[in-house]
Amino acid sequence: MSSAHNRVAVMHGVNLDMLGRRDPEIYGTETLSQYEYRIHEFARELGLEASFFQTNHEGEFCEYLHRVPETADAVLVNAGAWSHYSWAIRDALDVAGKPAVEVHISDVANREDWRSVSVFDGLVAAKISGKGLDGYREGLEVLARELGV
Ligand code: DQA
Repeated sequence: MSSAHNRVAVMHGVNLDMLGRRDPEIYGTETLSQYEYRIHEFARELGLEASFFQTNHEGEFCEYLHRVPETADAVLVNAGAWSHYSWAIRDALDVAGKPAVEVHISDVANREDWRSVSVFDGLVAAKISGKGLDGYREGLEVLARELGV
């Protein structure tokens, strides 16, 4: 186990592998790989070590969270639409027991009403939305402070 306590699991959920193809007016034209490349750089600049995971399968997302206590010190999560209704993923994030920040690329508070609900309320150190890639940097900054890095 790393003694640095600087490992951040960056987790993307359902449909986020479609970045670059889905609704570019809302989500921009960058692909998930391009996002991950930049997030990796932001993390390094902040003294954090990012690892990446994406799945379209809710159970796999939960199982990855179950392994977080062994693999990471903090979680940066964009669970896509699951953020609005998956109590299973909320419970799994709770089980992970690590500092977490919720990020959304789009401004979920100013879209359809159902997107303003978040299952992560009360569990995450911050919820950042509507800032695109910059939101991920902001989320990493919050986690660096939480981890004392
Ligand atoms: C999203 C917002 C969600 O409402 C949506 O279902 C997504 C992406 C975002 O990053 O803006 O898939 O999490």
